[in-house]
Amino acid sequence: MSGIEIVEGDITRLDVDAIVNAANESLLGGGGVDGAIHRAAGPELLAECRTLGGCPTGQAKITKGYRLKASHVIHTVGPVWRGGHVGEPKLLADCYRNSLALAVVHGLSSIAFPAISTGVYGYPKEPAARIAVQEARMIRMPERIIFCCFDAATAELYRELTGRSV
Ligand code: AR6
Repeated sequence: MSGIEIVEGDITRLDVDAIVNAANESLLGGGGVDGAIHRAAGPELLAECRTLGGCPTGQAKITKGYRLKASHVIHTVGPVWRGGHVGEPKLLADCYRNSLALAVVHGLSSIAFPAISTGVYGYPKEPAARIAVQEARMIRMPERIIFCCFDAATAELYRELTGRSV
């Protein structure tokens, strides 16, 4: 099984092989973690994203990390929460699964996720975290999966779900 770690803070600071971006279908930037990643990576990231032709919800695409410590960014598009009955859980699980699969295909050993869809897209934090942890537990690779939580309450939620005290 992959090692699961929980850290609190800004994902753009992490020294890992890939950080995951909670993007939108255009892949051309936005607010929240997407805006932070583009600011930290520099304009070269947007230039590469322009060549990708967007990304459907639930899918993932990989770019270089440019000015980030992370060598790669995996861009995935979470579902907008519309009450939970139009396939949101499956689409959110797809984001984690497809991002992890891309990391494995590219031989990456560490990947950090933000809490996809739980900001502007409105997915409730607890069911979203359950899906994230469930998908991470289903695979053996990559070696390290880091859940990067932007606030203490989210970190606490992930610690409860993974049974970790720190
Ligand atoms: N590091 C880690 N987590 C962060 C950071 C950060 N620097 N900044 C925010 N978060 P959101 P979504 C957390 O809204 O809901 C964008 O405009 C935040 O607290 O960034 O998937 C895209 O372009 C929240 O828990 O992403 C899309 O249009 C989580 O990251 C749309 O927002 C996700 O919040 C995607 O919405």
